[in-house]
Amino acid sequence: MDFNGKLNFYTEKINEALKKATEDFPRGNIVSEAMAYSLLAGGKRIRPVIALAVAESLGGDMDIALAFGCALEMIHTYSLIHDDLPCMDNDTMRRGMPTCHVKYGEAYALLAGDGLLTYAFSYITDKVSDKEKAFDFIKYLSHMAGIEGMVGGQTDDIKAESESADIETLRFIHARKTGALINAAGAAGAIAAGLPASYAEDYTKSLGLAFQIKDDILDVEGDEAKMGKTLMKDINSEKSTFVTLMGLEEAKGELRKETDKAIDACRLFGEKGGFLKELAEVMLKREN
Ligand code: IPE
Ligand code: IPE
Ligand code: MG
Ligand code: MG
Ligand code: MG
Repeated sequence: MDFNGKLNFYTEKINEALKKATEDFPRGNIVSEAMAYSLLAGGKRIRPVIALAVAESLGGDMDIALAFGCALEMIHTYSLIHDDLPCMDNDTMRRGMPTCHVKYGEAYALLAGDGLLTYAFSYITDKVSDKEKAFDFIKYLSHMAGIEGMVGGQTDDIKAESESADIETLRFIHARKTGALINAAGAAGAIAAGLPASYAEDYTKSLGLAFQIKDDILDVEGDEAKMGKTLMKDINSEKSTFVTLMGLEEAKGELRKETDKAIDACRLFGEKGGFLKELAEVMLKREN
C-alpha cells in the first residue's frame, strides 16, 4: 500500500471507531450531542494515525493502539472546544463548522469538553483488557494532557498574548500545548508494542514542535476554506508565535529543521519506518 492508501486506511478505521464510540453516549442528552458534534466534525486525526503507524512499525497490537488513539482524539477535541471558547481564543469556526459554543452555547460546550476528557479514560478501561498496557498509557497520557503538558502549555500561551515571549519560552509553550499530545500518540503505539511510553519521543518531540510551527505559519498564509478555521488571529493580536518572533522565512527554516530531526529519528522504527518518515514530510507541506 502506498502512503495515501495507508493514511486513508488508518483514517477510516479511526472514524469508524469514533462514530461507534459516540453511539454509546447517553441518548437524549444535549451534552452527548455536543460531544458527538465536535468529535465527528472531521479533523485530520493525526494523533490516532501516529498511534496506529507507530504500533504497526513496531509490531504492536493494532486494536489496543486504535483504542488509545481514539481516546487521545477525544482529549484533543476537548482541548479544541475549550481553546475556541470566548474566554480563550474566541473562535467561531472549527473543522469547517460553527464552534461547539456557537452551536450549543458556552455552558454546554464547556461540559462537552469535560465530557470528552473524562470519557477518554473510561473508553480506555472499557476497551483495553490488558491492564498493564492500559495503566501505562493512562499514566503517560494524564501527564501529557494536564498541567505538565497541554493544560500548562495553554496557560503560558495565554500569557504570551499580553507579554512577549522569547523563542526558548515559545519552544517550551509549543512542546506542551501541542507537542505533549503528539508525544502521547507515539506512546500509544509504543505501549501497544510492549515498549516504554517514551520509546518514540525523539520522533514525536520534533514532529510536535514542527506541527505547531506549521500551525503558526498557516495562520498567516493558509487558506481559511481549507483550514476550516479563522486565520490571521495570532498576527492580528500580536501574539508571540514562531512567525511573529522570527518572521515567515526563518519560521519555515525552523520547520524544515524540526522535520529533518523527526525524519532522522525514524531509525527508531527500523525498516518499517517509511510511513512515519513520509508523514513528517507531508505534515510540513500540509494545507490544513
Ligand atoms: C489544531 O490541531 C490545534 C493544534 C494543536 C495546532 P489539528 O491541526 O490537529 O486539528 P484537527 O484535529 O485536524 O482539526
Ligand atoms: C491550540 O493552539 C492548541 C491546543 C491545545 C488546543 P491554537 O490556538 O494555535 O490552535 P488553533 O489555531 O486554534 O487550532
Ligand atoms: Mg489557542
Ligand atoms: Mg486557537
Ligand atoms: Mg493556531
